[in-house]
Amino acid sequence: MGSAGYHSDERARPAGHEKPAPLDLSHHFSAVTKRRVASQIKQAYKFFQIPGILNIAGGLPHVDFFPFDTLEAQAAKPERWTPSPNHPAESAVPSASSDPAAATHITVPKTLDESDPLKKVDLATALQYGLAEGYPPLLSWVRQFTRDHLHPDTPYRDGPEVVLTCGSTDGFAKTLSLFVDEWTEGVNDIRQRPGLLCETFVYTNVLGQAVPLGMHIAPVKADAFGMAVEGPGGLEDVLANWDPAKGKRPHLMYTVTLGHNPTGIVLSVERKKEIYAVCSRYDVIIVEDEPYWYLQFPSAATEEAKSRGKPAPPVPQQDPHTPTHSSGSPFLDSLTPSFLALDTDGRVVRLDTFSKTVAPGCRLGWITAQPAIAERFQRISEATTQQPSGFVQGLIAELVLGPHAQQSAQQRAARSTFARLLTPAQQAAFSGWDVTGWIRWLAGLRGTYERRMARMCRVLDAHAVLITTTTTPSQENWTAIATTPLYTFAWPRGGMFVWLSLNLAAHALFGAPGLRLPALTGPVLSTALMVFLTRKPFRVLVATGSMFSADDAVRRDEGWRYYRLCFAAEAEEHVAAAAERFAQGVHAFWAVRDAGVVEELLEEVAGLGGVEGLGAGVGVGEDVVRLGGVMGC
Ligand SMILES: Cc1ncc(COP(=O)(O)O)c(C=O)c1O
Repeated sequence: MGSAGYHSDERARPAGHEKPAPLDLSHHFSAVTKRRVASQIKQAYKFFQIPGILNIAGGLPHVDFFPFDTLEAQAAKPERWTPSPNHPAESAVPSASSDPAAATHITVPKTLDESDPLKKVDLATALQYGLAEGYPPLLSWVRQFTRDHLHPDTPYRDGPEVVLTCGSTDGFAKTLSLFVDEWTEGVNDIRQRPGLLCETFVYTNVLGQAVPLGMHIAPVKADAFGMAVEGPGGLEDVLANWDPAKGKRPHLMYTVTLGHNPTGIVLSVERKKEIYAVCSRYDVIIVEDEPYWYLQFPSAATEEAKSRGKPAPPVPQQDPHTPTHSSGSPFLDSLTPSFLALDTDGRVVRLDTFSKTVAPGCRLGWITAQPAIAERFQRISEATTQQPSGFVQGLIAELVLGPHAQQSAQQRAARSTFARLLTPAQQAAFSGWDVTGWIRWLAGLRGTYERRMARMCRVLDAHAVLITTTTTPSQENWTAIATTPLYTFAWPRGGMFVWLSLNLAAHALFGAPGLRLPALTGPVLSTALMVFLTRKPFRVLVATGSMFSADDAVRRDEGWRYYRLCFAAEAEEHVAAAAERFAQGVHAFWAVRDAGVVEELLEEVAGLGGVEGLGAGVGVGEDVVRLGGVMGC
């Protein structure tokens, strides 16, 4: 084991405080981050709030110049989707509303006569320049949801702070800006090269951001339960036996713990504790990126066994984590807790997003971290994005907070013709989703995705094996039946993806000489199958493991074995059909015996500049990997 950079037990614990203060981790801040100072303009905002002040200081266009008089939307009711049970043993769940199309009309008025900035949701404030940490009404709602419901038991004193972002991609970019000094080969000393710990398969965009900064990507082996701690290639091994020739030992880890993209794994609390202990010992900041946080599937193990004719697994023990405070919601309490629940040091930076709970185009999310780190994020936002879009912040604030209780008659009249079609009772009944409605919405999404997942997995299970019969022409006419698994997979325990391991070694052409290629290798067959599946009659597009491989070694050794299938992207009625077409396509591909067919399929990718050919006989080229930027979301 290598020497640890920091000993957390050195911290003073002032008497009378149950929880320790978070560590000072400013030694990890990048040079740019250390140099950032608070924006002078933003500091002046407090003067803007003085009642009656005539502000001729700021370059803020008056609200009268905004071309929008209201911002209105027809929004779902939180009960639109039917939740699923929180535990495999539970059966009763509140069903969806009797009318799934039922909606609420929400209106953000132009100006609202409200002195409390935390309740004032209007265009005059939402569309104006605002605070980098977020639009006050929405920020305070997100902060309360995060601190009281999502992470009610963060172990450091006074709990975490939140800063709104333009989504998790933006949150991660800001995280890199906060902790990473750019490194250039030939210019900077190798000893300064920053590193990023991550799983061997990783969300593509992370690499797209980290690699150009000069970071060394340090993949950590994972087993069926997520990032491994022990054993060769596990976290302890990577850190303890760090080779300085690769750069500085990494002090940043990127991980997705609930419904990992692309593997669908949910990291248990036990494993999280082990990882956290190692990170604490080696002074590693943990970046927990959780767009799929609410999509944990309690029924996956049981339904997987049922689908495969296996005995039901024992009902899972209670996860070995007892929150000190309940979130107040059985649904949230049932989810495996975040690293933040273990974060005694204050070394966890968590990224959340509205992309998968509202819509990707919102470009809205938030960062949760200990206050001193959150303060640096605020400084970064001030100088970069300034604030997320006011349209989105205003609309989401209106959805969760609801119309102001004391709207003037004039503001009510400003509502659209459509809104006036609603009965006064319907209008009066809407008071915003609030936390309860928001959690109900999330629980409904989970239920819907869980049922989709099961539908896709059942079809995949049904076709996972190729059965071949051969009849020996003899007196007895013996018929031999052989079964070959074409792919294997675990039903995802969370998220949006099925991660399939292809048994390409069982293909008749595996390793065979090509007509132009020296050999039809695993990467070649994997790419050819991807293209084959897009052709008639299959017409189904999958993402390949090479798109998510953390580095070239992973891509070469393992990436080609995997496909990622998303059960979230297509219309409800197409989920089973997509799986069916995929399975049919795989079976048909196994019947291909002609190397020329495989090479012709590859040409289509070579057309993209993809397979370095059919010449070099390598596997998947840069452009196929780059496709991951789009398909790998
Ligand atoms: C792991 C992971 N992080 C981040 C994102 C993107 O999040 P956002 O839309 O908030 O930038 C995705 C999208 O697929 C993702 O899978």
